[in-house]
Amino acid sequence: MIRSLDAVPGTVDRPLEGKKILLGVSGGIAAYKTPELVRRMRDLGADIRVVMTANAHHFVTPTSLQAVSGQPVRTDLWDHAAEAAMGHIELARWADVLLIAPASADLLARLALGRADDLLTTLRLATRAPVLIAPAMNHVMWLHPATQRNVATLVGDGNTVIPPDSGAQACGETGPGRLPAAETLAAAVLATLQPPRQMLAGRRVLVTAGPTREAIDPVRYVSNHSSGKQGYALARAARRAGANVTLVSGPVTLPEPAGITTIKVTSALDMQRAVQAHATDCDVFIGVAAVADYRPATPADQKIKKLPGRSGELVLTLTENPDIIAGVAALRPRPFVVGFAAETQSALANARDKRLRKGMDLIVVNDVARGDIGFNAAENDVTLIWDAGERHLPKSGKDAISDQIIEQIAALLASESRSTS
Ligand code: PMT
Repeated sequence: MIRSLDAVPGTVDRPLEGKKILLGVSGGIAAYKTPELVRRMRDLGADIRVVMTANAHHFVTPTSLQAVSGQPVRTDLWDHAAEAAMGHIELARWADVLLIAPASADLLARLALGRADDLLTTLRLATRAPVLIAPAMNHVMWLHPATQRNVATLVGDGNTVIPPDSGAQACGETGPGRLPAAETLAAAVLATLQPPRQMLAGRRVLVTAGPTREAIDPVRYVSNHSSGKQGYALARAARRAGANVTLVSGPVTLPEPAGITTIKVTSALDMQRAVQAHATDCDVFIGVAAVADYRPATPADQKIKKLPGRSGELVLTLTENPDIIAGVAALRPRPFVVGFAAETQSALANARDKRLRKGMDLIVVNDVARGDIGFNAAENDVTLIWDAGERHLPKSGKDAISDQIIEQIAALLASESRSTS
C-alpha cells in the first residue's frame, strides 16, 4: 500500500535524508516528468543518480536531469570515463533502491526476459537493492496481454510494480497508463526503505503454494491454473515480517525465495506428507495451494494407449484426496490456521461456510470468476473472514495484498495471546 508522505509519522521534513536512489528513465512521453520527480525526492533529502536508456533522450535531456540531480547522468554501459569514476557494479551496490520511472512497454519486456543489453537493464540484474518499477504508456499497450504477462513475471521475480494512474493520455485517449504523481512515487520509495515492522518476529510460518499434479499415467496428470505467485508472495511477506518461513510448493516456475526453506512436492499426497512433517512445529499455517480435491484412483504404470477399436470414451475414476488444511486444523495443539478459497459463485457465503467446515481461524476469499485476479494473475482482490470480522482488500499486486494479510494475521495472533494471557 502506498501511503501519502504526510501520513508517515516522523517524516515531516526530509524523510529520504541520506537515502541513495538510482533512478532509471526509459523512453516514454512521461519521461518529461522526471526532472520534477528528481526535484521532489531531493527536497525530501535523497541523493539521486540518474541512468537513462537510449530512447529516453527523445523525451528529456541528460542536461536537465544532471542539473536537477546535481550529478552526472549515466546513459552508456561503455562510457570509459564514467566507468572509471563509478563503475556500473559500484553504482548497483551504491543504490539503496532502484526506481525505474517511467518504464516503457519495451523496457518491461527486456526486464522480464532478464536481458542486460544496456546500462539500466544491467544495473537491474547487478543490484541487490529493491527494485520499484513504474510503468507508463498508452492504455492499449498497458492492457495488452504481453505487457500484463511481463508485469506478472516482474512481480513474480520480486520487483514491486507501481500501477499506473488512469486518466487522459498524451495520445488524446483516456485509460490506465499515466505515470503516478511524483509524490506517489516518492511515497513508494519511502515505504520500501523503511525497515519492515517485525510483526511476526520469532514466529514459525508454514505456507503451501501452487497447484498439485495428480498422475493419470507416467506422462499425463490432472492439475489446475495456480501459478504459485500468491503463495510465494505470502511466504516473502511473512519473511519480511520477521518470521521463520517454510514453503511447501507444488510444481511452479517461480524462483525459490531467498531466506525461505522451500520444499518441492508434486501431488496432494506429497504435499500432505510435507505439511504433516512441519505442521506441529509451526505457529501459523497458511494454505494458499490449490490442492486437487480428487486424484485418479489407479494411475496407470505405462502410458495409456489410444487403442484402435476402443470406443470414443475413456473413463477415469477419481478418488478423494485428503483435506490437508482440515488435518492441520484438527491437530492439538494446533497452529493459527489460514486458508484460501477460490470461488466462482456466492464467494463470501461459500467462504464463510468453508472456514467453519475446515476449522480455519481465517479465510481469504478471491472471486476468481471475474478473471482479472486470482489464478495466475499479478494482482488479487480478496476478503478476509474470521470469527469476529471481515475485511476487504481492494485489487492490488500480490505482494501488497500479502503484506496486508500478514498484518491482519499478526493482529489476530496478538489479540489471541492477549485473551489467553
Ligand atoms: O497461485 P496463483 O496463480 O497466485 O493463484 C492463487 C490462488 C487463486 C490459487 C489462491 O489465491 C487461492 O485461492 N488458493 C486456494 C484455491 C483453492 O483450491 O481453494 P479451495 O476452495 O479448493 O480450498 C480451500 C482451502 O483448502 C485452501 O486453503 C486449500 O489449500 C485447502 N485444501 C483444499 C483441498 C485439499 N484437499 N486440501 C486442502 O488443504
